[in-house]
Amino acid sequence: MSDTQTNRRTFLKISAATGLAVGATALGATPKPGTATSAPAKAGDVLLYQDGPNKGKPVKAADLKAGTAVWAIVADPATKKPRDATKSAVVIVKLPSGKIKASSKPNAVGDVVAYSSVCTHQGCPAKQLGDVGAGKGNIICTCHGSIYDPADNATVLGGPAPKRLAALPLKLDATGQLTAGAPFTGNIGPKK
Ligand code: FES
Repeated sequence: MSDTQTNRRTFLKISAATGLAVGATALGATPKPGTATSAPAKAGDVLLYQDGPNKGKPVKAADLKAGTAVWAIVADPATKKPRDATKSAVVIVKLPSGKIKASSKPNAVGDVVAYSSVCTHQGCPAKQLGDVGAGKGNIICTCHGSIYDPADNATVLGGPAPKRLAALPLKLDATGQLTAGAPFTGNIGPKK
């Protein structure tokens, strides 16, 4: 059996157990954002949509809907190039009103929070919110079923992840675009 088949079977078992409801396309590889610069994030960096119809455009806080997530890349504001080929991807979540916890507030803009989307288990993309069961409204990694709470500083709610996702402190610029207010709060992805 190939690795892909093994991963898919594992994922399906976890989905059944946890109620994760996601498409098969979520089993994709880590992003390949192109030529990268040298650091994962710096204050003032811009956040650009990683995929979808707005790919490459800046993420504006006012365009986000409560209870949804978008996948973005941290980029140099001058060149618009990703800071790092494998560590610059983030999942941005606009939480439902009143859900944010004290642990997330220092890094948030209103109800909007951002975390590294590199899963701390084995580095798969943790880039979307679950639809049902334990994953509902929480950030999920579909490779092996890790679940992170976006309202509580991405603390681990389930699955094999050994630690929370690193937060990216957010700011708004004068045009309403989300930017990095500071570097990530911790190590990105699995600890080596
Ligand atoms: S890589 Fe294993 S749960 Fe994310």
